[in-house]
Amino acid sequence: MTQKSVLCDVGFIGLGVMGKNLVLNLADNGYSIAAFDLDIQKVNDAIKQDKLENQSDTPRVHGCFSYTELLSRLKTPHLIVLSVPAGSPVDQVCESLIGAGIQPDDIVIDTGNSLWVDTVAREKKYKSNFILFSSAVSGGEVGARFGPSLMPSGSPYAWTRIKPIWEAIAAKVDAETGKPLERTQPGQVIEAGEPCTAYIGPAGAGHYVKMVHNGIEYADMQIICEAYHVLRSGLGLTPDEIADIFEQWNTGPLDSYLMEITVEVLRYKPTCHKSSDCLPENKEALVDLILDKAGQKGTGLWTAMSSLEVGCPAPTITQAVYARSISSFKNLRVEAFSKLAGPEVVSMTEDEKSELISQLHDAMYCAKICAYAQGFQLMKHAAKEHGWQLNFASVAKIWRAGCIIRAVFLQFITDAFQRDENLENLMLDDFFAKQLSEHQHNWRKAVAQATLFGIPIGALSSSLSYYDSMRTEVLPANLLQAQRDFFGAHTFERLDKAAGKKYHVEWSTKERNMIEISSGHK
Ligand code: 6PG
Repeated sequence: MTQKSVLCDVGFIGLGVMGKNLVLNLADNGYSIAAFDLDIQKVNDAIKQDKLENQSDTPRVHGCFSYTELLSRLKTPHLIVLSVPAGSPVDQVCESLIGAGIQPDDIVIDTGNSLWVDTVAREKKYKSNFILFSSAVSGGEVGARFGPSLMPSGSPYAWTRIKPIWEAIAAKVDAETGKPLERTQPGQVIEAGEPCTAYIGPAGAGHYVKMVHNGIEYADMQIICEAYHVLRSGLGLTPDEIADIFEQWNTGPLDSYLMEITVEVLRYKPTCHKSSDCLPENKEALVDLILDKAGQKGTGLWTAMSSLEVGCPAPTITQAVYARSISSFKNLRVEAFSKLAGPEVVSMTEDEKSELISQLHDAMYCAKICAYAQGFQLMKHAAKEHGWQLNFASVAKIWRAGCIIRAVFLQFITDAFQRDENLENLMLDDFFAKQLSEHQHNWRKAVAQATLFGIPIGALSSSLSYYDSMRTEVLPANLLQAQRDFFGAHTFERLDKAAGKKYHVEWSTKERNMIEISSGHK
């Protein structure tokens, strides 16, 4: 058989860093791939990389130079994976595939961070042309290469075809311990363990879950950054000293990939070969030289917007998005620095400093619990609204390895949803309620001290307000309802009367009589 006549298992479109690594991951797991990118250089790079890594004589990656060639090189019905930027590029590829003759029983899997409503619309739009399936990928470039977390959703029929492939390439965890099974070398395959992929639900559900994953990722990162800020600016610790503290914390309940990479970042000093690489004398580490303006591609914002739209609070996630926005106002902040007063300098004894360090640990832990509680409650809310049967223990399970928020903590969440699949909010699980109650005192102290330092800790403090709001039996919304009734006759309910009965005070009259509003009354 000539090389040209080989029919491949999977077609792949989009050979950027993520795409190329997913292709090599598929190849390691025994799948042959017809690979295409509009940039010919990327096709050639993927072929070259496969040659370097391939341990057999048979090429695993076959380069294609048009959509038509791609379809002609695939087994039927075609299975095509897209790794292209979210938004219009997905539609451009879909239209090109239609032009090239894709068939109704062919499957196209969108692995990008598409907005979930776009995915729902696309599934309908392309129904008569092909089956659009989606499976967001988390784990960055290393995850894509050696095992990502995959969140598939769409046609159940398509899933039966995709499942064995997805289970092969996904990250794996030890079924007993819930710990990741590391795969780090090209050619290495892990067949044992539980794969970090599971069918999420109908079209859109997987992208919604990935969107919330990213919202939690924003919160997790911001919580770490705020603790770093307090340690760096409040206590004046060096990046190396903070790395030592975080390294130690990374052996307890805060053990996570994001903590691990933070330690590496804080320790990093570029090798000083040429003067442009050297750190100035007064700088400890590269982190001190990185411009403090955060970027964002939009998934955190989408999570915050969804939470506001459906009225299911996610303040820690939303604060994390705001923190990135505020950081981008660098010039304005520099101007405000010289104009707006801060607190008096607080001096602390060594003992007080050590206490604050432990308090910060507990504040991070509690804020993290709140961020996940918000994310999972939001998914629950969306599931109810859209009729998705989300399995939250399974979502937590597939986030235990491969993805950016992978952490020991995800096993605690898996356990909580296995104890009670209908759990309304994670904070109400006995384990998490106990953790919050044991650590809340330190959390409050850390928030108070950071506030006295004048250090912004939006994620740590808004989580605390979230916690306090959720455990407050009577909120001041009674007064708020009265205010609304005063200026807009918006009515209120009463604690001492039957639920649903509405009342209004005629505030503008001298008598200010209270009247019961009958149901038809406007
Ligand atoms: C992942 C990441 C990935 C990407 C984010 C970054 O799960 O692998 O979340 O999807 O790195 O989109 O998002 P920002 O650019 O918005 O930080």
